[in-house]
Amino acid sequence: MKAPVRVAVTGAAGQIGYALLFRIASGEMLGKDTPVILQLLDLPQAQNAVKGVMMELQDCAFPLLAGMVATDDPEVAFKDADIAILVGARPRGPGMERADLLSANAQIFTVQGAALNKVASRNVKVLVVGNPANTNAYIAMKSAPDLPAKNFTAMLRLDHNRALSQIAEKTGKAVGSIEKLCVWGNHSPTMYADYRFATIDGQSVKDMINDQDWNANTFLPTVGKRGAAIIEARGLSSAASAANAAIDHIRDWVLGTNGRWVTMGIPSDGAYGIPKETLFGFPVTCENGEYTMVKDLPIDEFSQERINITLKELEDEKAGVAHLL
Ligand code: NAD
Ligand code: LMR
Repeated sequence: MKAPVRVAVTGAAGQIGYALLFRIASGEMLGKDTPVILQLLDLPQAQNAVKGVMMELQDCAFPLLAGMVATDDPEVAFKDADIAILVGARPRGPGMERADLLSANAQIFTVQGAALNKVASRNVKVLVVGNPANTNAYIAMKSAPDLPAKNFTAMLRLDHNRALSQIAEKTGKAVGSIEKLCVWGNHSPTMYADYRFATIDGQSVKDMINDQDWNANTFLPTVGKRGAAIIEARGLSSAASAANAAIDHIRDWVLGTNGRWVTMGIPSDGAYGIPKETLFGFPVTCENGEYTMVKDLPIDEFSQERINITLKELEDEKAGVAHLL
């Protein structure tokens, strides 16, 4: 058995929290040889609900659950945290865009970034799920000047998984056979899911589909507006699939991808013309607990237009929170 890993989760009483915590405690995120200590943050009025979730976690008798803490104080929740999954934020309702959450949620991430800066492990891996996820991750990163910027990531994995499933359905092939897919940009309808490099059993997905109209007018809108479609259908935003994507993101970051591409929202190093530090969805591979961006991919005119649109949206969001930083 390894030493226990401290995993902080914010918004622990929320619907994503409920779909996430049991899977972390059962070893699905960090492996069946790694005990975890859950450090749960939520608002004061949600503490009772967190206690209820903790009772249920206890009743599962997970052999890997080595401890639990519930608190409304970020400095307690993030103390020595090795992993911090920042879910806690207001979700959007029907008719709202994720950008509408900017002012409601931005302040949460200045406070939590500062707390991470003060008390978390210097190697803490941070995943921001709360929307607008890229800009919230940017705010947290900027509020934590003593931590490496590369430790701050945003969740694009749900878009990546949604795109995989759409391609599997279109081609009639298994989801697990699709390689080298990526999603560029913002976790918003402007994201650009790009299957130009994707392969199935060594064959080009672009050639297999060979339908640019489907790409532009069916695939991209379906993936981009999937969150809204779920809100419309469920009356609540996606939760189990979001929790699943968070597990995928952290598992791959910690345990590696074996050369496979995945999408992570990471601070740009200037590659692909994306300004430095912009929290942008890029193709990455992971090894030894570090991610590496896939570089030097050719960007054609259609792709460049899409990347410009999603970048412009992120720059506007960034300008909208500049006064907080
Ligand atoms: P929810 O309302 O069910 O739960 C949110 C929880 O966060 C609540 O328990 C609330 O009390 C708590 N909270 C609010 N402010 C907090 C703070 N300052 N500190 C700690 N906890 C706080 O919402 P949910 O469905 O779990 O969604 C959470 C967030 O995740 C939303 O912003 C949603 O839009 C976002 N989301 C992102 C993705 C993605 O792919 N990036 C996918 C789905 C949902
Ligand atoms: C999603 O993509 O399902 C989430 O970001 C929730 C939302 O507001 O769309």
